[in-house]
Amino acid sequence: MNAIEIKGLTKNFKEKQALCGLDMTVPVGAIYGFIGENGSGKSTTEKIICGLIHKSSGTVKLFSKDHTDPEIRSQMSALIEAPGCFPNMSVWNNMMLQAANLDISNAEQEVVKVLKLVRMEGAAGNKYKNCSLGMKQRVGIAMALLGNPKLLVLDEPINGLDADGMRIMREVLTDISKTGATVVISSHILGELEKIATHYGIIKGGKMLKEMTAAELEADCRTYTALQAKDMSRAKAILSCKYSHVEEDESGYIRVYDTVTPEEIVCYLYENGIIITEIGKAKIGLEEYYIDLMKGGK
Ligand SMILES: Nc1ncnc2c1ncn2[C@@H]1O[C@H](COP(=O)(O)OP(=O)(O)O)[C@@H](O)[C@H]1O
Ligand SMILES: [Mg+2]
Repeated sequence: MNAIEIKGLTKNFKEKQALCGLDMTVPVGAIYGFIGENGSGKSTTEKIICGLIHKSSGTVKLFSKDHTDPEIRSQMSALIEAPGCFPNMSVWNNMMLQAANLDISNAEQEVVKVLKLVRMEGAAGNKYKNCSLGMKQRVGIAMALLGNPKLLVLDEPINGLDADGMRIMREVLTDISKTGATVVISSHILGELEKIATHYGIIKGGKMLKEMTAAELEADCRTYTALQAKDMSRAKAILSCKYSHVEEDESGYIRVYDTVTPEEIVCYLYENGIIITEIGKAKIGLEEYYIDLMKGGK
């Protein structure tokens, strides 16, 4: 079963068409990386999924039911933009208030559980306004987790976080996924999503450009040998005589995409009087794949 199934979704804002026939499929249990440039329609899609705004046309199904079905609505949760917290209240009190709003019976127990899941159990007494951006985002996620949603939609939760904040967020999202929930995370920070996503959807201009599993991305991302030599232009010319896919990248490395070991390249260049200063195997990452895709290269 799919957690989300969208067909031909459109959304018009007065003169602007934000979504132009978007299709999207999110399998149950996925961590779905929803990727696209600013203005491509990620937040609009998420708001429609969550029932915050109306669609113009198309179908949106959640767990095989229409997304407006009240039973389904109660099983999903979202963090879109900043969480609605009272700045002068503690994290704990904000959480308890939200639990009361949702009419959660064993509130204290549930709040302890979700704060632990987002690594905030030691900071529950902090005033919300004194929390770092990463902590605030995690409080927002904890709030969204109250009531055990089957589907969690997070709009750019890693945006603006420092390296440590991102690492914690990654662990938190992986743990949430282990509880069986399906998670949709929109982002334009691709490198971070690559470490956790099981599925990807790439949106451009209000349309889904490509959907794929992490395994399909892996298979699509070519490996290559990257090297630097004392005389780069000669090295490139000599390599091009023997190998068919040789190019210089933007960071000043020569890439050989042919199936060849670094050892073979070292021997070949040495025989031709070229000294290699650095060599290793590398792989095109999501970031580069995405840029290629946007340029229409793949
Ligand atoms: N309330 C609105 N009124 C008019 N245009 C909007 C509104 N919300 C979004 N848009 C436009 O729709 C497009 C998609 O926006 P959005 O979904 O926020 O993109 P993303 O989240 O991918 O950055 C953008 O061109 C944006 O300017
Ligand atoms: Mg957005």
